[in-house]
Amino acid sequence: MRRYHMACIYPSDSQEPELLYPYILDNIKSFLEGETDWIANAANAAATIGFLLHDLNWVGFYLKRDNVLKLGPFWGKPAVTTIQIGNGVCGTSAETGKTINVKDVHQFPGHIACDLFSNSELVIPLFKGGQLLGVLDIDSPEIGRFNEVDQKYLEEIALYLAETIQWPQ
Ligand code: SME
Repeated sequence: MRRYHMACIYPSDSQEPELLYPYILDNIKSFLEGETDWIANAANAAATIGFLLHDLNWVGFYLKRDNVLKLGPFWGKPAVTTIQIGNGVCGTSAETGKTINVKDVHQFPGHIACDLFSNSELVIPLFKGGQLLGVLDIDSPEIGRFNEVDQKYLEEIALYLAETIQWPQ
């Protein structure tokens, strides 16, 4: 692995999940170190995942505000700003509190298309102290982009972000 330091990021030498995902988490940790601003940290986390994982076109946060999900920091094209709980992949994940791994978004009833190039999507709910904060949404142009190994590692990263970032109340 290459060495990296604050404010610099380099592509991973390896695409092996056992090496790549720890490298992604290490990079996120280095960007979050010493910074308490949730917008700065969530923005860098989304950009780090988007830059280091191959075949993605959108990574970002939707945060629970009253009874809806609101767009938060993201990497990718502009996206819908408000999603009702229970709607789309993000709203369904927020409602059920479960990760949703959609192999083909065109087969998901009610999928909300933000980028026409998206073909698969992984949405992970974020909890802190038992409260739903929102979701981490990751989109890919590749059908079936996320396998169980990707899901496991991305859930670990999402858990770290949920617990570490000082999300607004
Ligand atoms: N596809 C999502 C909407 C958000 S965009 O993908 C950025 C959904 O169905 O909830």
